[in-house]
Amino acid sequence: MAAKIWSTKKHKKILFKNSPCVVTLKDWDSLENDSLSQKGLSVIKNCDVLINDGIISDIGEDLLNKSDNLGEIEVVDSSKYVIIPGLIDCHSHPIFAGSRANETVLKSQGMTYEEISAKGGGIVATMKATRKVTTQELSELYKLNAIDSLARGIVILEAKTGYGLNPVQERKMLEALYEAHSGKDANELPLLCPTYLGPHAASPEYRGLDNYIQALVEDLPNIAALGEEAVKKGISFPLAADIFLERNYFTKEQSERWLGAALQHGLDVHIHSDEFSRSGGAELAAELARRLEQTASKRRQRGRVLTVDHCQYSTESDLGRLALLGVGAVALPTTSFFSKIPYVDAKRFRASGIKVAIGSDFNPGSSPMNNIWFSSYLALSQCGFSLAEVIAGVTINAAFALGLERIYGSLEIGKKAALVAFDGNCVEDFYSSLLGDHVRHVVI
Ligand code: NIG
Ligand code: FE
Repeated sequence: MAAKIWSTKKHKKILFKNSPCVVTLKDWDSLENDSLSQKGLSVIKNCDVLINDGIISDIGEDLLNKSDNLGEIEVVDSSKYVIIPGLIDCHSHPIFAGSRANETVLKSQGMTYEEISAKGGGIVATMKATRKVTTQELSELYKLNAIDSLARGIVILEAKTGYGLNPVQERKMLEALYEAHSGKDANELPLLCPTYLGPHAASPEYRGLDNYIQALVEDLPNIAALGEEAVKKGISFPLAADIFLERNYFTKEQSERWLGAALQHGLDVHIHSDEFSRSGGAELAAELARRLEQTASKRRQRGRVLTVDHCQYSTESDLGRLALLGVGAVALPTTSFFSKIPYVDAKRFRASGIKVAIGSDFNPGSSPMNNIWFSSYLALSQCGFSLAEVIAGVTINAAFALGLERIYGSLEIGKKAALVAFDGNCVEDFYSSLLGDHVRHVVI
C-alpha cells in the first residue's frame, strides 16, 4: 500500500487523531549523555497532532473537542500509527544517469572501491553516462529517485552534483535539479537542499587537480548566483558546497582553497572525508570553523561549516573538537555495507558529544540503495547506535547537518508541519519494516 502524501499547500488543516505514540524529539538537544535511553525522544502517548497552514499548531489529547473554531478539517484516524518528524536524508547523490550494477557485483566478490575506480569505474563511469544525457533527461531521472524518497517519508532531500566534473557539466546538474523543482509536479518531490560537489574527482578537461579547483573557484560566483535565484523563486533551500577529501582524490590544501572560497560566497559547506584514511577533513573543518568563530551555540545564518561526512577514521578528539565548534558528523553505513569497508563506531561519536546524522549516501556506485530506513538499520545493528540515536540521526540531527534545525527535525508547536505516520504502536515499530514499507502518511 503506497503512502499518502499530504502537501500542506493543498491541505490546510489536518488532524492526526489519537496516535498511541508520537515521537516529538522536542528536548533532544538539551539531553545530556542519555542518548541510550528513549527519554530524549520525548514520546507522548495517545495524542493528536494538529496541522494548520503548514505549521504544527498543537499536540495533545482530544484536540477536536478542546479547540474551538477548527472549521473545515481533514481527520486521519491514527490509532494504529506511530508519528515521527518527517525524515531528512542529509547526504545523497540522487542525480545521475547510467548504472554501475556491475560494480556492485564486483564488490560483492571482493574487489575494492578503490581498485574499481583505478580501472576506470567509479565516479568517472557515472560522469560519462551523466554527460551523455540532456538537462531535461537528467532532471527526469532525478525525479524518479526523489519520488521514491518522499514515498518513504523523506521530506527534505539533500542532493549533490558531482558527476559533471567540469564547470559546464556541473552547472548542468544543478540546473537539472532546479528544473525538477520548478515544474508542475514539484509538489510530488521532497524539499530540495542542493549541494555543489564540483570537486568530486579529477576532471578530464583539466591537467591536475589544482587547475580544476582553480576553474571551479573562478566559476563560483555564477554558481552562487544560480543558488540565490532558486531560493528567491522558492524552489529550494540555499546551495551548499562539498568536496571529496581523500587519498587519490583532493588534498587538504585543495579542499581549503575550495571550501574557503565557498564560505566567502556565503555557502554552507560539507566535507566527504576520513572514509578510507584519516585524510584531514575533520582537521580542516575545525580550522575553517575556528576562522569563522563558529561555536556549538553560535553558528551564523549562512556560510557555516556544517558537517564532516563518512568519518570512519576520524578520532574521538577530532570529533570532540568539531562538536565544540558546532560542526556535525554524518554516518553513512550503507556505503560500508556495499563497499565492504569498516563501519563507524557509535561509541566514538557518543564519547565526543558530536551531533551525528545518518544519511543514505545514495549513489550509483558505493551505495546503490535509496533507502534511509535500511541505512538507519545498519547504524543500529552494525555501528552500535541506540534506537533513539538512530531516530535522531534521521530527523533532528539531520536537520542540524543541513542547518535547518530551527524549523525542521522535531514535532514542536510552531515548527514546519513535516511528519511521517507508520504502522505501529511503540517506538520499536520504527523497524516493523526495514525498508520503510510501513509508511502510510507523509506530510510535507
Ligand atoms: O559518498 N565518497 C565519494 N562519493 C561518493 C561515491 C560516489 C560514487 O561512487 O559514485 C560517496 O560514497
Ligand atoms: Fe557521498
